[in-house]
Amino acid sequence: MGANSTPKDDPKGLLRGRFSEATDAFVEEFTASVSFDQRLWREDIQGSQAHARMLNAIGVLTDAELGEISAGLDQVSEEIEAGQFKWDVQLEDVHMNIESRLIGLIGDTGKKLHTGRSRNDQVATDIRLYLRSEIDRIEALQVEVLHAILDLAEQNSDTIMPGFTHLQAAQPITFGHHLMAWFEMMRRDRERLLDCRKRVNQLPLGAAALAGTPYCPDRDMLAKDLGFDGICNNSLDAVSDRDFAIEFCATAALTLTHLSRWCEELVLWSSQQFGFVDLPDRFCTGSSIMPQKKNPDVPELVRGKTGRVNGHLIALLTLMKSQPLAYNKDNQEDKEPLFDAVDTLHDCLTAMAGLIPNIEANTETMLDATLKGFTTATDLADYLVSKGVPFRDAHETVGRAVQLAVSKGCGLEALELSDLNGPGSEAITEDVYQILTPHGSVAARNHAGGTAPAQVRKAIQAARGEI
Ligand code: ARG
Repeated sequence: MGANSTPKDDPKGLLRGRFSEATDAFVEEFTASVSFDQRLWREDIQGSQAHARMLNAIGVLTDAELGEISAGLDQVSEEIEAGQFKWDVQLEDVHMNIESRLIGLIGDTGKKLHTGRSRNDQVATDIRLYLRSEIDRIEALQVEVLHAILDLAEQNSDTIMPGFTHLQAAQPITFGHHLMAWFEMMRRDRERLLDCRKRVNQLPLGAAALAGTPYCPDRDMLAKDLGFDGICNNSLDAVSDRDFAIEFCATAALTLTHLSRWCEELVLWSSQQFGFVDLPDRFCTGSSIMPQKKNPDVPELVRGKTGRVNGHLIALLTLMKSQPLAYNKDNQEDKEPLFDAVDTLHDCLTAMAGLIPNIEANTETMLDATLKGFTTATDLADYLVSKGVPFRDAHETVGRAVQLAVSKGCGLEALELSDLNGPGSEAITEDVYQILTPHGSVAARNHAGGTAPAQVRKAIQAARGEI
C-alpha cells in the first residue's frame, strides 16, 4: 500500500507509510491499548471537537470542514454509545480507532483533524479530562461520607466509650468524638483531592508530539473550551509527565489507608468480643458452614482493597522513574493502574456512604467497657495534683489503687477513701467519686479539640458550616 492510498482498507495505513513490512502479529497485540483505553472515548471525542473548533478559528479548517468533522464525530459518538462501534486492535488505541472511523464516515476532510496534533498531547489531554470528572464524582462521595459521619457523631455526642491506646482501654471519650477523628481524616483527604485537581486541570493539547506545532494553536481557546484552568507551560513536560496521575493515586492510597483504619475498627467493634456496634444485615454476609456467622465483609474488603491502590501508586511511580523526556511508550501503562485506583476508591467510598448512617452504637456495652477498664485513673491523678500532690507521686498513688482494685475485682469508684489514699495520706476526699465517673471525666475535657460533649457538638456545628 502506497503512502497516498486511503486507510479504509488498510487500518495501519494511517501510520505505516515508512515501513516495508506489516507489523508482527504478536507485536500488534503487545503494543495495542485499545482493550483498556477505549474507556477514554468520550474525552477523546470531546478533545477532538475542541481541537477542530480551534483549527477553524486559526484558519486551518473552513467552516464547512468543521461542520463535517463535528457531525462525523457526533456520529462516531452515537455508534459507540449504541454499542455498534467495532473496536479494532489493529488500530492500536482509542485515538486511532475513532480517527479512522471518522475518515471512513466523512472521507478526506476527516484526515485534516490531526493537523497540529499528536497522540502524545491527545492522550495526555484525554486522561486529564477523564481524571478531572472522576475526581468530581469522588469528591461528591467524600462530601456524602463527611455528612454521614457528622450525623452519626451528633447522635452520639454524649455516648461514652473507652478511648484506646495500644488497643488497651485508656480514657473515657465520647463516640461522637471518636467519629469526629474520622471526620478530620477525610476532611484532609478531600482537601488533598481538590488540591490535586488543580494540577490535573491543565491543558497539554497544542504540545503536539513534543515540540509544539508551526500551526501556532490557540491554546487559551482550547483550555477555555475544555474547561481547563490553564495550559501546561512546556510542551515537553505536557506530553511526558504523569505526575498528576501519581498524585491522584497517592491521594487515593492515603484515603484508603484512612478507610482501612475505620474499617479495622468496625470489624473489631462488631465482633462478639467488643460488641460496641451493630452493622446492618444487608452489609454483612453469612458463612457457608457456620450458621451463626454474620461477617463484616464490607469493611473487611475495603480494608483489603487498600493494598491494591497502594500497589497502583508504586506501579505509577516506578513507571515514571528514570524516563527520559519526552513521551515514551511506557506511559501507555499509566491507564490500567489509574483506572483501577479510581474505581476502587469510588466503590469503597460508596460502601462507606451506605454503611456509616446504618451503624448502631450499643451504648450500654460501650459504657460497660469504659467502667471496666480503670479509664478514669488519669482523672484520679489529675485530682491529686489539684490537691497539691506532685504529678509523679500522684501517678504512683493511683497505680497502687489500681493494683488494689484489680485484686478486689472492682472498679476504682468502689474503693474506700482509705484504700484510694493509701497509708498516711488524706489528700483524697469524698468529692473524688464524681470525677471517677466516665461522664465526669469527659465533661472535664472541655476545651477545643477535647472530648467533652459540648466541644463535640461545637466541632460538629463548625464542620457543618465548612463542608
Ligand atoms: N496509546 C498511547 C498511550 O496511551 C497513545 C500515545 C501514543 N503515542 C505514540 N507516539 N506512540 O500512551
